[in-house]
Amino acid sequence: MSLEAQSITKEYKRKGKKSSFFALKNTDLVLADGELTVLKGRSGSGKSTLLNIFAGLSKPTSGKILLDGTDIYSLGDGPLSVLRNTLIGVIPQEHFAIHTLSVLQNVCLPSVLFHKDGDVESRGFELLKLLGISELAGSSPSELSGGELRRMSAARALINNPRVILADEPTGDLDDENTELIFELLRKKACEGASVLVVTHENDAEKYADRSLKIQNGTLEYIPF
Ligand SMILES: Nc1ncnc2c1ncn2[C@@H]1O[C@H](COP(=O)(O)OP(=O)(O)OP(=O)(O)O)[C@@H](O)[C@H]1O
Ligand SMILES: [Mg+2]
Repeated sequence: MSLEAQSITKEYKRKGKKSSFFALKNTDLVLADGELTVLKGRSGSGKSTLLNIFAGLSKPTSGKILLDGTDIYSLGDGPLSVLRNTLIGVIPQEHFAIHTLSVLQNVCLPSVLFHKDGDVESRGFELLKLLGISELAGSSPSELSGGELRRMSAARALINNPRVILADEPTGDLDDENTELIFELLRKKACEGASVLVVTHENDAEKYADRSLKIQNGTLEYIPF
């Protein structure tokens, strides 16, 4: 399964400004099976904009996101939502949690909503264990630290064993040991066949990557390493 950005442009109108602003300019990028791509760039360069467009969360101004040849933005809200929750796993930059649900219920939500088979709770618990926070399974997300919430998000992104994983600064609030844990897990998922895109500022992220890209003012560059 390949996910391909073709000539993606994203134009924003900023409040109080007459002229519009291009956060992404004619971007082409293929995320292939089994490949981990690292995406770096300064704050405001367009990293999250690109990741959210790949995730089906933000429609580009022009261009296409092709999943096995189908433009995901040509799908209706229903099919796009199913696709987002089953084939694509997103670790968002901003913390997101439903506070009336426990940590484990938050992790299992994409699976419960989209009727994936198997024992969802034990799968969710195993992921929490892998990420070192299984003792917090019954806690409320409001009781978690930033790094614990980030690991909860990672578990939620992986619950449906997605073919595409999009991680937006997944280690921003983690210590070295947990940073390594997350990168090793993402690398393992790529080795098992997933297409993985990681937005990161980590210096040694390339160690886990098949390729590294840089984005500058909405334009992608490939960095050899
Ligand atoms: N909804 C929006 N309306 C207007 N401008 C926006 C909007 N979202 C993002 N932008 C602008 O688009 C540019 C790219 O934003 P983006 O969030 O992609 O940056 P980023 O590379 O992820 O930065 P960071 O490292 O700080 O997360 C920024 O200059 C931002 O101000
Ligand atoms: Mg960002």
